Amino acid sequence: MTAFDRPRRLRRTPAMRRLVAETTLQPRQLVLPMFVADGLTEPREISSMPGVYQHTMDSLRKAAVEAVGAGVGGLMLFGVPLPEDKDATGSLASDPDGILNRGLRALAEEVGGATVVMADTCLDEFTDHGHCGVIGSDGAVDNDATLHRYVEMALSQAAAGADLLGTSGMMDGQVAAIRRGLDAGGHTDTAILAYAAKYASAFYGPFREAVGSSLQGDRRTYQQDPANRRESLRELELDLAEGADIVMVKPAMSYLDILRDVADRSTVPVAAYQISGEYSMITAAAERGWIDRRDSILESLIGIRRAGADIVLTYSATEAAHWLS
Ligand code: PBG
Repeated sequence: MTAFDRPRRLRRTPAMRRLVAETTLQPRQLVLPMFVADGLTEPREISSMPGVYQHTMDSLRKAAVEAVGAGVGGLMLFGVPLPEDKDATGSLASDPDGILNRGLRALAEEVGGATVVMADTCLDEFTDHGHCGVIGSDGAVDNDATLHRYVEMALSQAAAGADLLGTSGMMDGQVAAIRRGLDAGGHTDTAILAYAAKYASAFYGPFREAVGSSLQGDRRTYQQDPANRRESLRELELDLAEGADIVMVKPAMSYLDILRDVADRSTVPVAAYQISGEYSMITAAAERGWIDRRDSILESLIGIRRAGADIVLTYSATEAAHWLS
């Protein structure tokens, strides 16, 4: 008889490790966030996110085809308008000819049916002040006035061919308002990916460059305080009651406890967003030779899956999908 138990028996060979691995990571579980920009003649690499581009309509289509060929489960599209096209209410966001809606139509045409086409349903890329909503007379983001704009935006995105709308603005009641608006507009089949828990994070930094954000200040009156855990369960309950089809936790790596809480209680699939700063940290350290890019990305993704995400949004989606297939 052995004097002590030996867990190492199950780690001895690659075959044994493969047999006992609990968590899977497959291309279909990954979603690639993409940026399409107005006024570009060729794709522009985002300097704080090496390997990630602001796309032209043409390069968007090509990158989408590559991602879908690699097996990714979905594409999440963000639009980057010209600075001079921004205004106080983000008018271009709901314009059928606005950059995001044109991009969605291109994706739906190119890869619709082969993957899930997702749209960011938020105003921050389109407002001249950079906030996720419209500003009220008191200078604060006006929740209910913003909901009207979200509904207009959602209707235009559904019409452009988006399958799933990502409600990332953190306004109260946004899922209910958008669900009601979509149904009234005949878009009962358009689904909602609710950003249930979204924290005010410093790790969004590179994204602000990616979308040419005009934000001064911060989003702390609508995004959650990193100190809070319980609040995410309240947000989850509300989003489920309001009709969310999928719920999301964002960012991922500093919020794995929240992800586990949400995954344990959600009655719908759970997504997590490995955001820009998380991508940039790994990329920068790997560029310096301090960590291995492939192993670090795959480890971070399996960790997010293990914490409870059914779906992971990551800028590494295509790259990881190639490694995994
Ligand atoms: C807001 C939005 C943000 C991101 C996605 N949607 C930025 C923010 O909340 O400031 C960040 C994504 C990332 O950092 O990768 N519509």
